[in-house]
Amino acid sequence: MRILFVGDIFGRPGRTIVHERLPELQRQHSVELTIANGENSAGGFGITPQIAEELFELGIDVITTGNHVWDKREIIDYLNSANGNEASLARRVLRPANYPAGSPGFGWYEGRTRSGVAYCVINLQGRVFMTNNDDPFRFADQLLKQITAKVILVDFHAEATSEKIAIGWYLEGRVTAVLGTHTHVPTADEQVLKGGTAVQTDVGMTGPYDGVIGVQKEQILARFLTNMPARFEAATDDVRLCATLIDCDPTTGRATAIQRIMLRQD
Ligand SMILES: [Fe+2]
Ligand SMILES: [Fe+2]
Repeated sequence: MRILFVGDIFGRPGRTIVHERLPELQRQHSVELTIANGENSAGGFGITPQIAEELFELGIDVITTGNHVWDKREIIDYLNSANGNEASLARRVLRPANYPAGSPGFGWYEGRTRSGVAYCVINLQGRVFMTNNDDPFRFADQLLKQITAKVILVDFHAEATSEKIAIGWYLEGRVTAVLGTHTHVPTADEQVLKGGTAVQTDVGMTGPYDGVIGVQKEQILARFLTNMPARFEAATDDVRLCATLIDCDPTTGRATAIQRIMLRQD
């Protein structure tokens, strides 16, 4: 069984390349489950209900997020609307599971693929150089006690490579894959650990690379040079789709292969 994970979709350029290239990618690799991080899909900052549903229509099954999840306030009511409504599309938009108890929305989703394979997607956020959320390591332990699916994919949204690599080892043999997001730079360290867990420190951004992690470079340079507050807007050029493909055994959930993908807009 093949799972495709699309890295942080940044603004309209990111959504456009997903629209242009995702269907062919899914066909070419016989993808059965597609997950994408959408925390930057609305102009680079947050996600709106409308954009979430647009991404579902493009063939994405579950959307994960991260620290930018609350940037567009309308997502709060949307996530709340999933309460007690497991069948709603809103239930498939996740915020990190280890956010403070009572935060809107859910941090994991259990579903079935079209061919009937049970799967779970877990969204967690790191704590190094980020806000003080609950311990993602122990939160994962608690979650895994209640999840019955064998195929489990974790989006670990974190800043520090050390924390991302560490949680991969921590969850080895217990989940199918631990894929990093947030830094927007794809890392060439993809591997399948002996226990059958595929890992990669960062999948990379799906968006414009002619900037600084998606934002226009002049605006970020001005911030570094002056420390003055500035408006950040999405860059426009050198748009790429970064994703990672996982092969796994649907009966055991063990990963057998991992492949990095980077497509450029032509
Ligand atoms: Fe991001
Ligand atoms: Fe992030």
